[in-house]
Amino acid sequence: MPRPKVLSTHPLFPAARTILDAPCDMDYWKNPERIPRAELLARAAGRDAMVCLLTEKVDDELLAAAPTLRMVANVAVGYDNIDVAACTRRGVAASNTPGVLDETTADFAWALLMAVARRIGEGEQLIRSGQWKGWDLDQLCGGDVSGKTLGVVGFGRIGRAVARRAIGFKMRVLYSDAVRAPREVEEELHAEFIDRDALFAVADFISLHVPLLPDTHHLISTATLSKMKATAYIINTSRGPVVDEAALVAALEAKKIAGAALDVYEREPQVHPGLIARKDVVLAPHIASASLETRTKMACMAAENVVALFDGRRPPNILNPDVLAAKS
Ligand code: DGY
Repeated sequence: MPRPKVLSTHPLFPAARTILDAPCDMDYWKNPERIPRAELLARAAGRDAMVCLLTEKVDDELLAAAPTLRMVANVAVGYDNIDVAACTRRGVAASNTPGVLDETTADFAWALLMAVARRIGEGEQLIRSGQWKGWDLDQLCGGDVSGKTLGVVGFGRIGRAVARRAIGFKMRVLYSDAVRAPREVEEELHAEFIDRDALFAVADFISLHVPLLPDTHHLISTATLSKMKATAYIINTSRGPVVDEAALVAALEAKKIAGAALDVYEREPQVHPGLIARKDVVLAPHIASASLETRTKMACMAAENVVALFDGRRPPNILNPDVLAAKS
């Protein structure tokens, strides 16, 4: 069988290239700018597979431009950039990178939580601007974390990893999810299942861990923000459109909540100007999974999915296994 022709929209990391280079004819997009759409459509044509990032939209238009494509491997756990149904219709396998980024992302959700509660960004800005005049009793007083109530919205692998870390802070942990977790998980994590509205009303910190789906779009809205305590904070490491940014800015302005810490945005890389202007908001550039170890694992996982398909094996992280059944 001829070597599969594979487009990678990123040069990836050396470990992932080692996996791909031996069995595949690779075309790596090496420009530091993200690949323009027209270039993506042109380069995908004639390829057998594509390794892509969450910044690339894999839709009917792209699939039509690349009719020989048999696999799309996303280097991300979230795959709202991929129209999986369209892939299935055209017999294209799609995969993601679950599991390898859970702990790193949970660490970062906590970094954001601590940063917004304890005003670390403002403190750093004070020093870097040369304005710090020394210790003062009421300087940059934030909110305590230990002993407070954490609300985890979405209790999958990452939500649970976030909850586990709260044990060390002696927090009460509440969670909401479409499905209740098994009793042993609740016991291990000291987590209480609660209706989402009740969680919003009680939690001091609300950390979002839901996938972006039609029913999670703008889950944080004027209505949900109005249920929160005036002393509460929102932390978002899931997907930007889960939060209605205009509503969040309005709630912060009206002091309906105490602050927000965000890693993801509705229209990346644009950030709502009202968020940029605020001191009670911590902003990070979608880096929750960005440790070198984890990003390398993600790239290798995507590469292994591609190689598995062309080896005649089931890609371990396939999202639409029906395409394999249809071929066999
Ligand atoms: C993902 O994997 O979905 C993140 O947003 C990037 O790590």
